[in-house]
Amino acid sequence: MTSEVLKIRSLSGSLLRYPGGKGRHAKILASLFKLNKLQPKTFIEPFCGGASISLNLLEADAVETISLNDLDPMIASLWKAVFSTSDSKWLSEQVMTAPLTLEYWDYQKSIIPQTLRERAFQCLYLNRTSFSGLLHKHAGPIGGRKQDRWTIGCRFNREKLAARIEKLSSYANRVNFIENKPWRNFISQSITSSCFLYFDPPTTTRRIDFIDMYLMKMSMLYYMIIYLISVIFLGFCHMMIQKSFEICICLENKLTAA
Ligand SMILES: C[S@@+](CC[C@H](N)C(=O)[O-])C[C@H]1O[C@@H](n2cnc3c(N)ncnc32)[C@H](O)[C@@H]1O
Repeated sequence: MTSEVLKIRSLSGSLLRYPGGKGRHAKILASLFKLNKLQPKTFIEPFCGGASISLNLLEADAVETISLNDLDPMIASLWKAVFSTSDSKWLSEQVMTAPLTLEYWDYQKSIIPQTLRERAFQCLYLNRTSFSGLLHKHAGPIGGRKQDRWTIGCRFNREKLAARIEKLSSYANRVNFIENKPWRNFISQSITSSCFLYFDPPTTTRRIDFIDMYLMKMSMLYYMIIYLISVIFLGFCHMMIQKSFEICICLENKLTAA
């Protein structure tokens, strides 16, 4: 069991700083696939955000392809640009040269981007330079206006980010869809005969009705608890994981059909 869980040794993760990012769950999902003898071809994230699980599973070859979706146009634009050869090159160049100053942060905060690549860069820049990676209009710069304890560029490692963009863009031919739709619309387009759907909706939203959200959160919570119990009582792990897995799939089917 332990060796299965550790199969994905290094988690490179997302480009984005995402509050509550779930990259570490990639190891759990990889072991669930293995224990249940499942080989889903496509991993689908209708609420992708930082997309860290998809990216980790893709890089570990645990799935062949991924499909991403996010209702936030900034986030969807970023992934579209990263997985496009010309836009990813442009994005890396911007990462290497953009000023890491309060003036430029104010500029990025104020503009309404006219192109996809500009929106992608705005997303990446503001995510890496704003408090807690938040993109909403009230989020301030890292270090505040005084810039005394922390400076705006302390989470913006140019070389590392540019290298990550380049590495991710090399997987472009293994990305089926990147969309900017409400999750229900996206699912109907992206579902295939061999896929695994992973739901990580926001904690509160007016766009998703309460019961759907409650069911999705409960399924994730349930499977995390079962997983922990399984690790403690190794003898039962296969059966228990199988059970929780079925429930997750069941819920996902229900949501798909809804
Ligand atoms: C909790 S975050 C996902 C975090 C992600 N799993 C990670 O590890 O980084 C939820 C995401 O769902 C997006 N979202 C909110 N409402 C949505 C909707 N109705 N359809 C699709 N995406 C939505 C938000 O923009 C947000 O990025």
